[in-house]
Order: sequence, then structure tokens, then C-alpha cells
Amino acid sequence: MSTTLESAAGGRSAVRTLTRLWPYVRPVRKRLFWAALVAVVASCMSLVFPLVLKWMVDGPVAEGDTAGVWLGALLLLGLGVAEALLFGFRRWLVARPLAGVEASMRADLYRHLQRVPVAFHDRWASGQLLSRGTTDLMLIRLFLAFPLTFMVVNGATILVGVALLLAQDWTLGLVLLAPVVPLVVVVSYFEARFADVARRAQDQVGDLTTVVEESVLGIRIIKGFGRHRSQARAFRDLSRTLRGTELAKARLLAAIWGVITTLPELAIGGALVLGSVQVADGDLSAGTLVAFLSTALALRWPVESMGFLLAMSQEAATATERYFEVLDAEPESDPDTAAASGPDAADGMRFEGVSFRYPDADDDTPPTLTGIDLHVRTGETMALVGATGSGKTTLTALVPRLHDVSGGRITLDGEDIAHLPRQRVRELVSVAFEEPTLFSASVGENVLMGAGPDAGEQDLDHALSVAQADFVHELPQGADTQVGEQGLSLSGGQRQRLALARAVVGRPRFLVLDDPLSALDVHTEALVEAALRRVLKDTTALVVAHRPSTVLLADRVALLSGGRIAAVGTHQELLRDNAEYAWLMSGGSK
Ligand SMILES: Nc1ncnc2c1ncn2[C@@H]1O[C@H](COP(=O)(O)OP(=O)(O)O)[C@@H](O)[C@H]1O
Ligand SMILES: [Mg+2]
Repeated sequence: MSTTLESAAGGRSAVRTLTRLWPYVRPVRKRLFWAALVAVVASCMSLVFPLVLKWMVDGPVAEGDTAGVWLGALLLLGLGVAEALLFGFRRWLVARPLAGVEASMRADLYRHLQRVPVAFHDRWASGQLLSRGTTDLMLIRLFLAFPLTFMVVNGATILVGVALLLAQDWTLGLVLLAPVVPLVVVVSYFEARFADVARRAQDQVGDLTTVVEESVLGIRIIKGFGRHRSQARAFRDLSRTLRGTELAKARLLAAIWGVITTLPELAIGGALVLGSVQVADGDLSAGTLVAFLSTALALRWPVESMGFLLAMSQEAATATERYFEVLDAEPESDPDTAAASGPDAADGMRFEGVSFRYPDADDDTPPTLTGIDLHVRTGETMALVGATGSGKTTLTALVPRLHDVSGGRITLDGEDIAHLPRQRVRELVSVAFEEPTLFSASVGENVLMGAGPDAGEQDLDHALSVAQADFVHELPQGADTQVGEQGLSLSGGQRQRLALARAVVGRPRFLVLDDPLSALDVHTEALVEAALRRVLKDTTALVVAHRPSTVLLADRVALLSGGRIAAVGTHQELLRDNAEYAWLMSGGSK
């Protein structure tokens, strides 16, 4: 579990990062543009208030014209209502399209996660992926909804307001503008610090998600070993760290906020004193001073809100960065020169000088597999035997191209699998692993996943009987019973049999089984084997096995030792000639 896996090394600019959102924003750009325009108009309306005030103070108020005062008041009311309506309209304009943007980004993330190689998932903590698909996307949507628009809106409002101020009285205007330079300096300093903390906080959310996920998935282990305390402590530590980071963020924000509010207040105070003196001296009309100060006050919110708008933008930039870290991972690619002709010559499954090293393994460790030469003839069942950690699972994962070989090649009926489209390889090869995974769906759907779209009831029944999974018929709704996380819990052996049924339902040409019978009792195992023997007759199979009874199912056995094929032969031959094999089969190790 690592935190900042591929955290972009320094020099990143929030703006450049955010421009990567453009392809997603493009479809809704018109809406966003109109929404921004509406908001600019609404916001500039607040600058009309001071002008009305000035007219009232210098006109009707000075002359005691009550009707005029009423007219002014009505005008102000009308302006207020119009402003509120326009802001409401803006929200309505953006809400739907932005929900669409978030949905399409999420869909892309999900699609991408399905297409990256298994090695990617080996490397990334699932919580990091979950948090990117949820929290980070929400931050991006919020950014598009508020800060993006309001930075434009506030910028425009401030410009118009400043122009009005300078037009009304340029000396007072300059007094108000004095804090701009220090503000820019201070804010850019805080922004840089905030960017770091924001990144840290979002990575920590990912780590926290990972812990929650592991605790939920591993709840039996945690309870069984009485580990709930230490797990709770791990969670508490992480959440305390996150809290610390969030507090650091809040402190930074408070500091920015403090500076951003104080400096303009001081300037406004200064202008008030200076302006009053001018009014007393008769150099300035009272109406102008009122207008001037209320314009300055109207600009307070646009200026002050810039602080948290910038902070939200920074968070969105971090979220965007984290999102694209996943999306930039190379998906599994297929060669352009895919052989169009399907394999025809029945040559079985061949490993030729295959070597394999996990992409994230240390350079100084030996490769997991080296110089593997193995030929499983058509229709033959080859058992793969080896001590724990000898590389059996790794070897089986190479056949459906869950990992690509580092050297040598694997052929299916004479075709190098590296030159076949993955899709085709996975149609040819069916797999079942020791850890059976069932999805939240019905039993039937789980099994038929292993077959083409036109597989039906008959194929399902056939597969269930091969896998000795007749218990399915006794389930409350038979094959329609929901299983997986949201359904009925099945025993380990029952799940293994369903996974096996899934592997054989498509009547694959090649079958790769990584110890799929380990959770079965000896009696059921014998029944499954008898049935498997019937299907395996037409199938070329590589079966990882531990027990002599499973090995007996095979025509020949290959012994994997230290990442190499140490011996190939029948069970009897190896038992006689190979000490390690004899030892393994006598229950020496599992
Ligand atoms: N995803 C992985 N990344 C790096 N090394 C791995 C990975 N999976 C397995 N290994 C290593 O490869 C070796 C062989 O593992 P494996 O193929 O699972 O053995 P077996 O199935 O025979 O018990 C072990 O040393 C294991 O630590
Ligand atoms: Mg294994």
C-alpha cells in the first residue's frame, strides 16, 4: 500500500493540469459560457446599487422629495430581485450538464480500470482507485460548477467596479487599490503551500479508503484473530493524520482569508477618512462618497471569495492530477498485426523458452520463471506440481495473457499468443483460480460469464453437472439465486465448483486451472474429477494440482521447481525417479 504512487514531481501548474479537463467540458462549453455571462451580468448589477444611491443622496434626499425616495427604493428592490433570479437561472443552466461531465469522467475511469493490465492492479491500492472515482470526481464537478465560473465573474466584477471607482474619484480609487500588490504576493505564496497540503489530504483519503475496504473484506480474519483493536488503531491513526492534514489546510485557508479580508478593510477605512475630509472641505459631494464607499463594499465579497475559490481550484487541480494518473496508465495493447486466421493446426499448448519477471520486482531478484519449455499435446491434461511459491500461479496467468512473458513465447495450436488479439486468446482459454470470485448476480449469470452470448440453459446444466455443482438446484431460487456480496453466501467448496463450472461452460479449447479443487472434500473432489475427465477428453488442459488424486486425473505431470520445469513424466515415473516430487506427493508441503 503506497501513498503517492506517481505523484507528479514538482513544477506542476494548477492551470495546466486543469486544462486537461477540456475534452470533458467541451460538450457543455456553450452552457458554461452562457451561465458565466448570466452570472457576470447578475454580479455587475450589484454595482448599479451605488449609482442609484448616489442619485438618491444627491437628488431626492437632498431636496426632500419623498416620491423620488420611493422611486429609488423600488428601483433597488427590482435590482435585487433581478440579481437573485439571474443567479438562480445560472445554477439551473449548469447543474445538469455538469452532472453529465462527472458521469462521463467516472465512466471513463471505470472503463480504463478494466483495460489496464493486471500488473497495474497489483501495484495500486484499491482504496486509491475508489477515492479517485468518488471524492476526486466530486471535487472536479464542484470546481466546474462554482470556482471556474466565479473566478471569471468575480474578476469581471472587480474590473468593472475598479473602473467605476476610479471614474468617481481617482485619488480615493488609488487608495483602495494600494493593497493589490501585497495581496497578489501573499496569495501566490499561500497557493503553493496549499497545493502540497491538498495533494497530501487527497492521498490520505485514498489510504483511509483502502483500510476501510480491507477491514470490510477481511472482517472474518480480523474477528477470528481478535485483531479489531489493532485494525481500529490503524484506522484511527490514519484518520488522525488526515484530520491533521485537513487542519493544516484550514489553517492555511484561514491565514489567506485573514489577509484577504484585512487589507481591503484597511484600505476602505483609509478611503472613508480621506473622503470625509474632502466632503467637509466641499471638494466632494456626499452622494459621490456614499456611492464610492458602497461600490467598495460591493466589491468586498468578490475579492474575499477569491481566497476559497483559489483553494477549491487548487483541490480540483490535485483531483484532476490524481484522476489522470490512473487514466494515463497504458491499457493492455494489442498488436496491429493480429493474425486474422484462427489457429487451425492442432498443436496444443507450447511454452518455448518462456521466462517471466514481475514488472515491479527488484532488479536484483532472479526472474520468477526461466527457460520454461513445456508441450501440452492436444487433448492432453498436464498437471503442474510444485512447492508453494515455485511459480505455478504465475505460469498459469501467462496463458490467458494476464501478464505478458518477459522472454520466449507461448503458442496455442501454433499461434504465438503475443500476436493474437487478447480477446481471441481469452476466447480460446478458460481459467479457474484457487480463489473463486463470484459477482453480485445470479448463479446462472455467474457461470454463463464463461460462455459466449448464445449459451443457454442446457450449457448451464451441463457445466453445473461437470463441476458437481448440483447443489444449485436446491438453492431457494435454483440457478436464479443471487450470490456474491449482495446475495446468498456459499461455502468455499460451493464457490469453487461454480468457478469451475464457469471455466468449462464455454467448452473451451484450452483450460487452465490453478488448483481449483483445493476447497473440496476428498469425496466431492473424486466426483468432480470423474466428470472433468469426461470434458477434459476434448480439451487441452493445464491443471495445477497438489493432491495425488488430482494428479491422477492428468495424462502427464510437470514438476516446477525454482522457476524451472524440473521434470516431466507420468505420475508413476516421477514418483519413482524424482525425490522432490515424491516428497511433495507424500504431503511434504502444500
Ligand atoms: N504480483 C506479484 N508481484 C511480484 N511478485 C509476485 C507477484 N505474485 C507472485 N509473486 C512472486 O512470484 C513467486 C511465485 O508465486 P506464485 O506463482 O504465486 O507461486 P505458487 O502459485 O507456485 O505458489 C513468489 O515468490 C511470489 O512472491
Ligand atoms: Mg498459487
